[in-house]
Amino acid sequence: MSLPSLARITAPPDPILGLTELFGSDPRPGKVNLSSGVFVDATGKTPVLDVVVEAERRLAAEAGTKLYRPIDGEPAFRKLVRGLVLGDDHEAVTSGRALATQTPGGTGGLRVAADLLRQTGSGTTLWMSEPTWPNHPQLFHAAGFRIRPYPYTDATGRRIDEAAMFAALDHASPGDVVLLHGACHNPTGVDPSPAQWRRIGDLVEERRLLPLVDLAYQGFGDGLREDAAGLLELVRPGAELLVSTSYSKTFSLYAERVGAMLVVARSAADAGAVQTHVKAAVRTNYSNPPAHGADVVRTILADAELRARWEVELAAMRTRIKDNRAALVEALEARSIPGDWTGIATQRGMFALLGLTTHQVARLRDAHAVYVVGHGRINVAGFTPANLDPFADALAAVIAD
Ligand SMILES: Cc1ncc(COP(=O)(O)O)c(C=O)c1O
Repeated sequence: MSLPSLARITAPPDPILGLTELFGSDPRPGKVNLSSGVFVDATGKTPVLDVVVEAERRLAAEAGTKLYRPIDGEPAFRKLVRGLVLGDDHEAVTSGRALATQTPGGTGGLRVAADLLRQTGSGTTLWMSEPTWPNHPQLFHAAGFRIRPYPYTDATGRRIDEAAMFAALDHASPGDVVLLHGACHNPTGVDPSPAQWRRIGDLVEERRLLPLVDLAYQGFGDGLREDAAGLLELVRPGAELLVSTSYSKTFSLYAERVGAMLVVARSAADAGAVQTHVKAAVRTNYSNPPAHGADVVRTILADAELRARWEVELAAMRTRIKDNRAALVEALEARSIPGDWTGIATQRGMFALLGLTTHQVARLRDAHAVYVVGHGRINVAGFTPANLDPFADALAAVIAD
């Protein structure tokens, strides 16, 4: 026996993490990486939050254990993150029809959601915005879904093309899954308005579609409650949906792999039954979740003082991103780079889409050591006083080429 012949053919690099590897091996001084979605401070570092250091100090002082955790995670963590997304007094929480599962990051949450659906006989079609986070199509394809795109922004890239989006989703069949970004759409930074969220709620209800909301940036847009408000429009009486959350960015716990997957079912009895299938999906994948990141998140969320400190640090990250957006627009306008860049200042979250050609993206990398994804997705949180002007100069040069 031998390995399959396909395994001998090199796979294409990951569209985002592959670039980070290339960046790492680039010897040029002054290189700029705006490709991967990590927050950096003004010195270019991704620090551990102070509140995380304090939570880890407290955890280290406790008599710990490295015993396996429950398949779906610690009950206290599961309750706290459910409240963070839905609000503790939401009917879906108080009725018990919403249950959370701890997952290895947001990616793990998406994969558990996908496996749950495929293993319990869901529809095979999943609709996702075009564009979307590049890992979405490959993850859901690997889990056995047929991917259908729905248009998202109009030609300006600054507004949702409501007519085109809803015209496409009108072709969805009952049971199809619709993937939505809960807040801080990656890569466009453009989120539905409250009225558009209501319209999405009406559509999924009328056409009997299942929403799957990817909430990887709760608190990076306008605030913790504000960034959950859109998806709450979908949590109508009796309505069902799945939510995947990530604490990689908002707690700066990237390497700890902590996130959650929430099931909102029609009733508490249904939620309990679904949870048995969630556990089966987890058990046959990674068996049970890693402990440390979830312990940190639980320690912070359970303690009023630590929670308040986290919210202050989260707000500081949000403010830095907003300030970077304004500084970027100013730098682009100062160089009179053709294009209307003002929208970048009002978009939400870590990303902005510059709408560059493949050639321009390659020139940025080859001639200027500036790394951006796809058609010019940039991580706005990656700008520092040291790299903003070099980036703007490089962009001016490739656009003028
Ligand atoms: C839209 C979106 N979903 C999910 C994730 C996954 O995050 P995690 O690192 O927690 O797996 C990311 C991370 O970049 C993301 O941008």
